[in-house]
Amino acid sequence: MSSRVIPVVPFVLTVFGATGDLARRKLLPSLYRRHRVGQLPARAIIVGAARQRMTVDAFVALVRDALVEHIAPEDLDDADLTQFLARLSYVPVEAEGEEGWTELSDLLAAQQGVVRIFYLATGPSLFAPICARLARHGLNKDDARLVVEKPLGKDLSSAVTLNDAIGQVFDEHHVYRIDHYLGKETVQNLMALRFANALFEPVWNNAHIDHVQITVAESIGTAGRAGYYDTAGALRDMVQNHILQLLCLVAMEPLVSLDADAMRDEKLKVLKALRPINEGNAAQCTVRGQYRAGASAGGSVPGYLEELGTGHSDTETFAALKAEIGNWRWSGVPFYLRTGKRLASRVSEIVVAFRPIPHSVFDGHAGPIAPNRLVIRLQPDEGVKLWLMIKDPGPGGMRLQHVPLDMSFASVFGVRNPDAYERLIMDVVRGNQTLFMRRDEVEAAWRWIDPILQAWRASREPPKPYTSGTWGPSAAIALIERDGRTWTDDT
Ligand code: BG6
Repeated sequence: MSSRVIPVVPFVLTVFGATGDLARRKLLPSLYRRHRVGQLPARAIIVGAARQRMTVDAFVALVRDALVEHIAPEDLDDADLTQFLARLSYVPVEAEGEEGWTELSDLLAAQQGVVRIFYLATGPSLFAPICARLARHGLNKDDARLVVEKPLGKDLSSAVTLNDAIGQVFDEHHVYRIDHYLGKETVQNLMALRFANALFEPVWNNAHIDHVQITVAESIGTAGRAGYYDTAGALRDMVQNHILQLLCLVAMEPLVSLDADAMRDEKLKVLKALRPINEGNAAQCTVRGQYRAGASAGGSVPGYLEELGTGHSDTETFAALKAEIGNWRWSGVPFYLRTGKRLASRVSEIVVAFRPIPHSVFDGHAGPIAPNRLVIRLQPDEGVKLWLMIKDPGPGGMRLQHVPLDMSFASVFGVRNPDAYERLIMDVVRGNQTLFMRRDEVEAAWRWIDPILQAWRASREPPKPYTSGTWGPSAAIALIERDGRTWTDDT
């Protein structure tokens, strides 16, 4: 099976923060890959904008190095690379000053009749100053699109301030808030599974589902971002956005259409229906942890505090939560969420655990009957498993076994899954906001997160230590086992 490439319309994409980590590691490699498969039209221009004073040639050299570093050698074709680099331009711009803006405007004015995109791959403190200058130079007109990504605030009030600053310059229909998890192939497959099959919808509710688990586990530590990470922590860094988005996709009502607002309206309803976790119940419903030295990927690794280089920090590198959705469909179905750094392995998956059968006709020889489970694995080895009971083959009486109907996308389809950014950037060019977060979603997520942060602050309890290379503090196991359930290790 091959993937289908539908070329997009001509565009000029200005990347603020073009010399930074996100641009070098994700954005430019993703654009190169789209170029390589032939999706970019001749008039697709990428303008780097950053504070550094450098020539276009120096920028091109920087991008070349980034591509060599982040793209597999077999995907780096010399001719493609040369053509791609010819799309680049560079303007030194002061985000908080006046320098460079006229040059940028002149450069963009020369490109009429193309989709104009501004990607703010900078820290959020520069979002408002950049937006204000875009407006001052009239660059927010004519269907211009703005792309921003997390951290979109550190709490509700800072998120509102940020959104207000953006909203003064760009209409909501022109704002693309990236949550890169929404661009992952398997996340979209969740929608295909739910809404392109008749099988699941009738059982997708509290009459048939016992609970849901969402795990986003990483084996890496803070990966050179300790400075940022220490101001965020796992709850802000992963739960407020990626994990809540996954929860919404599992829990939302069937969509009327794939129209951007149809989906975002449904996700918003889920966020609003989340039962509050606050000082009254945070101790029962949440666990926070921080990694200590241990072993990961076969080698010994330092603890979080050593990586940070300070003797003290109360930032959590692990969070587990028991969330509940107060609506007709999900009442009584816990959603156990966990995420952390330096865990035993890198795995992200959603487990939908069905209720046990109501009555067994089998005798004791058959063995225990495990409930059905649908496992959607986001990474690595993307795929879907449906765990069923079947009869053990051959003679020997009726003995039952729990086995997965197992579909690994890589082995079935044999195609490379595009990086989430490849799809998302192309969606911006196409003007499709379905996979981007709307302002009210981001704020509703913070509205649920804020009381948890507040409860953690009030408790004054430090995060629980866990050894690197394990599954987090034992309290996270107790969180689910208290309810007579267990985290699923789906191997
Ligand atoms: C980012 C977080 O949003 O997602 C990082 O800031 C995290 O801390 C990353 O490592 C995980 O993304 P992925 O795609 O590697 O699962």
